[in-house]
Amino acid sequence: KEISSFQHSLLEWYRQNKRQLPWRQTLMEQHPNPYHIWVSETMLQQTRVTSVIEYYKKWLQTFPDIPSLAASSLERVNEIWAGLGYYRRAKLLYEGAKTIMSCFDGQVPEDIRLLQSIPGIGPYTAAAIASIAFNKPYAVCDGNVFRVLSRLFSIDLDISSSDNQSFFRSLAQFLIFKDKAADYNQAMMELGATVCTPKNFDCKHCPVHHWCNSFQTATERQVPLNDIV
Ligand code: ADE
Repeated sequence: KEISSFQHSLLEWYRQNKRQLPWRQTLMEQHPNPYHIWVSETMLQQTRVTSVIEYYKKWLQTFPDIPSLAASSLERVNEIWAGLGYYRRAKLLYEGAKTIMSCFDGQVPEDIRLLQSIPGIGPYTAAAIASIAFNKPYAVCDGNVFRVLSRLFSIDLDISSSDNQSFFRSLAQFLIFKDKAADYNQAMMELGATVCTPKNFDCKHCPVHHWCNSFQTATERQVPLNDIV
């Protein structure tokens, strides 16, 4: 019951406060394009939202779908990516598109294990595509989500350690609102990106401060340990 009111407050806040981002176009939100989610989540992995927006638009203008990406050359792919950094991501998107053409008939698979068989799609991106594009009940954990969870439960663990990250992943999987996985995951990331930030966090305006152990005990400054940002 507690969990369900937490989930509803978070989802209601997200509905009213989410940023308008090009991969979150309202009209498409019932059926997001899995290729769009794959591109945006790949770009967002090591890069901030504000830098990603222009690159995302340029990428989709050049490669509007998987067949056009798979038919391109690596030179062209690198040219469009130039400036975003971590160039391996561009090559992996390209390799992934070719794999989807040859093994999956040009369609992004819905199954999380099949997703992870594609070059460049690891556990994070697979969960993001399965949940955001197909609304499957997999929790997505990026640095924002680790921070939000450590504050909610006042867990003073180092969130940069991979053992501890597995612990937070189980916790996230426990809390997820299974029928609205797409919105729930994005709401958790959005909360970490805009309210429950590393510094200057805004607990007063947090939709879930009522359930937040760190806020209730005035210890929000002490967690998490070793924030990634
Ligand atoms: N960071 C990475 N993916 C994100 C998403 N879908 N929404 C907000 N921030 C993100």
